[in-house]
Amino acid sequence: MEYINNELHIGPNKKNLKSLTANYMRPIYVYDLDFIRMRFKAMAAALQNVRIFYAMKANSNPEVLACLKECGAGADVVSLGEIKRALESGFTPADIVYSGVGKTRHEITEALKLEIYQINVESLPELERIGEIAKAMGKKASIALRLNPDIDIKTHPYIATGLRDNKFGMELSLIPELIACLKKYASSLELVGVSLHLGSQMLEFDGYQEALERLKNVYHSLKQEFSTLRRFDFGGGLGIIYERSELDKEQSLLQEYAKITLNSLKELNCELQSEPGRWLLAHAGVLITQVQYVKKTSEKTFVIVDSGMNHLVRPSLYEAYHTILPLDKKSHEGVYDIVGPICESSDFFAKDRKLPEVKEGDFLAIADAGAYGYSMASTYNQQELPLEICI
Ligand SMILES: Cc1ncc(COP(=O)(O)O)c(C=O)c1O
Repeated sequence: MEYINNELHIGPNKKNLKSLTANYMRPIYVYDLDFIRMRFKAMAAALQNVRIFYAMKANSNPEVLACLKECGAGADVVSLGEIKRALESGFTPADIVYSGVGKTRHEITEALKLEIYQINVESLPELERIGEIAKAMGKKASIALRLNPDIDIKTHPYIATGLRDNKFGMELSLIPELIACLKKYASSLELVGVSLHLGSQMLEFDGYQEALERLKNVYHSLKQEFSTLRRFDFGGGLGIIYERSELDKEQSLLQEYAKITLNSLKELNCELQSEPGRWLLAHAGVLITQVQYVKKTSEKTFVIVDSGMNHLVRPSLYEAYHTILPLDKKSHEGVYDIVGPICESSDFFAKDRKLPEVKEGDFLAIADAGAYGYSMASTYNQQELPLEICI
């Protein structure tokens, strides 16, 4: 994002954000499709010969999905709702990988009817359930085992998924039972892959590398039992830099991540898959909100805007940092808490943040809100959902 003629612009083609507020009604998520295309190309170039299944929980806007499908992505989904949205947005069943710990009988049945590409199984009872349903339907399910290597990737505990005390994936000690179950349902389950997802916003890769080593060994031993095994899905999780002053680190992080992944996995000689979400979308989206009041107390100056944790929950949920910039460049500075209208003290975007001087009616852009923004929004306090615009 940068100012041109004192107005804030986004993306590689420097699109003006101010013009989008001409008929402002309520907060708007703006997604720059050129920016998303650029990110996809950069990741695809770094992860050569890896099939990218976009984790659509990050942002399931239909135009965003259509854009990524056009770029060549598949979709990583976690519910029947996401399967439906993916299909409506142009993906085919052959593009869909289905993860998630709580797949219901109905969801599994629908996924099998559609013959989706791969189901990432997260527990032994789920594997048993899929085997049983597929057998009754006369189908053969393509299964990847999501394994939990018990590795810490040093992210916020709420977005870590690869530790023993997380609900995700299956412990390596379960493998003999998984093999037995796969054999029991040999006519209805085909083991095609091993999968992994350690968590989100990963910015250093020691734990990740260790996890790949552990799962490579598992892959080799499973391959001896199941000749159908041919895919390794290394999940998503590559982090982005929310502190914009250090943005230039991002390219080298991508290169490092790709190098570790490809070097570690090349000996498997198998199909590689990944499930990125945040990295593709976060920078390409911004949440525009309008200042309602500037409220001074003896302790603080609050900037109260018309959006809040109901629209972008990341700061409240994970104490996540987002850069905030006024759409019109200003010179004087103040120190503010930027807060929303919701009746919770956790309803804030930033605390004690230095910002150009803010006045009632000004528009603020909450940067890097393209991932886990609208897709996590709610109508709490009976507030309306924000609008979404693709540019
Ligand atoms: C199974 C799975 N794959 C991929 C992702 C995408 O992660 P990220 O957006 O950090 O790339 C997630 C996110 O939580 C996930 O649960």
